[in-house]
Amino acid sequence: MTTKRETWNTHMGMIAAMIGTAIGLGNIWRFPYLCGKYGGATFLVPYVILLFGVAIFAMMCEWVLGRHTKRDPLGAFDKIRFPFGRDIGAWGIIGPFFLYSYYIVITSWVIFFIFASFEGLYFGRDTGEYFCSFLGSKSIFITHFFSVFVTSAILAMGVQKGIERACKIMIPALFVLLIVIAVRSVTLPGALEGVEFYMRPRWEGLFSPETWIAALGQVFFTLSLGMGAMLIYGSYLRDEWGIPMNALCVTLGNTSASILAGFAIFPAAFALGFGDIIGGSESIGLTFFVLPKVFEVMPGGHLFGGLFFILLTFGAVSSAISIQEPAIAWLKDEAGWSRPKSSVFTGIILWFMGIPFILNGFVKGGLGDKLALLSKMDVIIAQLAIPIFGIISIIAVGYFMQDRGFDEMNKNARVRLSKTPLKFWIRAVVPIFVGLLFILSLLKVLEDNHVIPAVLPTFRDMQFNSIGITPMTVFMIIFTALLFWGGFIFATVKVLTIEKDKKRKRDGHKHSG
Ligand code: ALA
Repeated sequence: MTTKRETWNTHMGMIAAMIGTAIGLGNIWRFPYLCGKYGGATFLVPYVILLFGVAIFAMMCEWVLGRHTKRDPLGAFDKIRFPFGRDIGAWGIIGPFFLYSYYIVITSWVIFFIFASFEGLYFGRDTGEYFCSFLGSKSIFITHFFSVFVTSAILAMGVQKGIERACKIMIPALFVLLIVIAVRSVTLPGALEGVEFYMRPRWEGLFSPETWIAALGQVFFTLSLGMGAMLIYGSYLRDEWGIPMNALCVTLGNTSASILAGFAIFPAAFALGFGDIIGGSESIGLTFFVLPKVFEVMPGGHLFGGLFFILLTFGAVSSAISIQEPAIAWLKDEAGWSRPKSSVFTGIILWFMGIPFILNGFVKGGLGDKLALLSKMDVIIAQLAIPIFGIISIIAVGYFMQDRGFDEMNKNARVRLSKTPLKFWIRAVVPIFVGLLFILSLLKVLEDNHVIPAVLPTFRDMQFNSIGITPMTVFMIIFTALLFWGGFIFATVKVLTIEKDKKRKRDGHKHSG
């Protein structure tokens, strides 16, 4: 099929879309929760090592596969003649379907909680019970349908008019709302206790494989790796844009949002007396029944609660569209369907696939029973399927594309990666690191499901007494702010200047030619 392939319209729009796929539920509820659980700022150590040592390379590999082949995941693996390319590439279409099916159900809870917060529906009630009863209510069918409709409608409008335009609105709005809520949170009396909990390193956590497994899962999930999303978005990259600096910009932008999310959540929770609960809460609980408790007693809680869930909706929708897009691109590329038809078709299937997760909410019992199916699917997808597809993409570039891949990575880039160390890193270091952590992750899943007896050393229930802002906490805040927020601003200014400069030169050549 040789129809002209869609591309991102503007460089800024591409950055917004890429950050849009990355920022999602994973940043706002999963990252702060993991920091709380795995030793505060200590979690940042494996996170940063895996982010810059592994995930950013995996992301560049997916962009390379996409841009070089200009195809959907299935077509991309086929085109580079990867062994069993069509079958393996098919996973880049089917895997995201399973991910989307439950991701959109969580999105639909988030959308409901916008109204619940503005209206104060859970105010004065037991928020745990309220959430449980919501899971078994008719409202969820409405918000679920609405969520699937919104993502399908955005996608039906196309890469430039749909995805890019939506992300150019949602992502800056998300950052503004996140900053507003973080400022509100850290200025509450007693907020420093939460800052201390979040940012004070508790080094014991560093030596537990559990921390590293969690960090690996998080860096892959948060950068939307191994789910076809980055590959397909990479296929819309223009040839003139350099990959390394743009990848750095997206990585830093995504992490800036995660760090901010922690500053939005922990200080408020501690200031309002929910520190202990929030420190031990499971991730879903954190968002849907612990935070509502916080909003209930927070001055202006209706407003801040509503705004928080709006920003979470922006993050979730901008990610969900990227997870639905590989299937749409496949129908367009391989079957020659129109974009609107593919969007409606995938929307209908994905709507059906979400229904079992909703029906699970109607079973009798507690939250564990109502979320049983969703939690199982999350383990299979996030801890196993995503890293596997992620590693395959790295191997595809490192071993099958070889020089074509490395050249594509540096094509038209001002900041180029030196080829010999890059080859070594992508071929050896990244797969070994990911493979090792993947084995540990598999052991952990088997252990947790009692298939094998406990073999991994672990740590749980870490204490966090001795609260009071310490010099170490101050150091970590400054370090984190400089690295991520400062780095993000620097990288954004740098890539924008580079691409503008290149455009000016191209335009100059055109005029003189
Ligand atoms: N990267 C997306 C998220 O973090 C999937 O939610």
